[in-house]
Amino acid sequence: MNICVIGTGYVGLVSGTCFADFGHTVICVDNNQEKIDRLNKGDVPIYEIGLDDLIRRNTKEKRLVFTTDLKKAVEGSLVIFIAVGTPAQEDGTANLDSVFAVAREIAGFINEYKVIVTKSTVPVGTGAKIKQCIDEVLERKVSPEYLNKNPEANSVKPKFAVISNPEFLREGSAIEDFMRPNRVVIGAESESAIAIMKDIYRPLYLFETPMIITSIETAELIKYASNAFLAAKISFINEMGHLCERLGANIDDLAKGMGLDKRIGSKFLHVSPGYGGSCFPKDTSALVHIAKAVDYDLKIVSTTIAVNDMQKEMMVAKVANVVGELKGKTIGILGLAFKPNTDDMRESASITIINGLQKKGAKIRAFDPAAMNEAKKILKNVIYCENAYDTIKDADALLLLTEWNEFRQLDLLKVKELLKQPLFIDLRNVYLPEKMKRMGFIYVSLGRST
Ligand SMILES: NC(=O)c1ccc[n+]([C@@H]2O[C@H](COP(=O)([O-])OP(=O)(O)OC[C@H]3O[C@@H](n4cnc5c(N)ncnc54)[C@H](O)[C@@H]3O)[C@@H](O)[C@H]2O)c1
Repeated sequence: MNICVIGTGYVGLVSGTCFADFGHTVICVDNNQEKIDRLNKGDVPIYEIGLDDLIRRNTKEKRLVFTTDLKKAVEGSLVIFIAVGTPAQEDGTANLDSVFAVAREIAGFINEYKVIVTKSTVPVGTGAKIKQCIDEVLERKVSPEYLNKNPEANSVKPKFAVISNPEFLREGSAIEDFMRPNRVVIGAESESAIAIMKDIYRPLYLFETPMIITSIETAELIKYASNAFLAAKISFINEMGHLCERLGANIDDLAKGMGLDKRIGSKFLHVSPGYGGSCFPKDTSALVHIAKAVDYDLKIVSTTIAVNDMQKEMMVAKVANVVGELKGKTIGILGLAFKPNTDDMRESASITIINGLQKKGAKIRAFDPAAMNEAKKILKNVIYCENAYDTIKDADALLLLTEWNEFRQLDLLKVKELLKQPLFIDLRNVYLPEKMKRMGFIYVSLGRST
């Protein structure tokens, strides 16, 4: 099958590469020339484990190419995936400018039947609007005025189908998630387009991957509802963390005790400095606005957002509380990305926390195994260090913000020696309080009183 994926970000690049690995012929398109040049040189612009190898293998097999030439890509493909960004706007709604710009461009180049699929996370009703937008362009292209001016143009309006196929991959395990998804959601109106989509995902039949075939609107909503539910789980456990601290209970045991109940499940019950990333913050906020537009006040999701904002702020207060006067103090920060195994800094809790600490006069030294380049674009006046130990040298406190594996195995004796005072603030509950105390640390974590 000839496929084109528009947008070579975290979702488009992984999807396009994995489709090629399924055996399809894939053209990945982006309007960022620099990105495409890098990809054509074999330089992968994002950090995602295993992606370089997969790209190398599939480009070598000539199943995967990168271009900025959308016309050629559209004309040569039966299925066109839209995987451009849909960031939050100032008012919290999703910005769909790129999606509609791409839809209009596609419409301009449609030469024969096409299946146009939104992989981007888009508000309910966007599929219908994309269809309308493409239809309008095609109508113009078969109008007598247009045909008069363009005698070589085709006077038959080409047919197309619009599909919603939201993506659920997680950065950091994106390839595994794409290759072995829990489910594939397909929102469609046309039987023949559904058959084409099933063909694309045929390799997943081997793993008996459930396929949800539904309306476009429901597919669009499944994505938002799933992310909002997961975000709610995180905010819930973070609130339980505060309760544990006040009641002398232990959040890790509490989460385990809850999570073993199969109706609840153990995933997303880890106490944290608050969720971040490119999806949960913008998708929860977009969902609240989607509901507002139809006169419904989505209280659980609104509260989830409020609790998350509060959680990030409370982390600043927590550090200030244990360090004391922050003016002139140095905090050594381990981990900046919103989670391990990614270089994505979008909405990372580290941003609010570092800004908050700087505002109180703290000096920040920081290290992240992958996100330093991204962090430098966002976080200013930070001393970016070579490694974990360099970061904490002569610091008044160590603050563990992202639980990269290499921070789970720190040489604690060395850590103690390097710090000005043995103050270890672990906002990911990586270490054991008793052991840390035994080693002479003043150890502070979340939701654990001992
Ligand atoms: N990042 C994730 O983990 C994830 C997971 C599931 C779903 N999603 C959704 O997928 C979508 C894409 O997210 P992302 O994180 O990959 O975004 P991204 O910002 O990493 O990538 C978007 C890409 O689209 C390109 N682009 C923008 N406008 C374009 C245009 N007119 N023509 C061609 N290319 C264009 C950009 O240059 C960029 O390379 C979003 O809607 C997001 O919500 C993201």
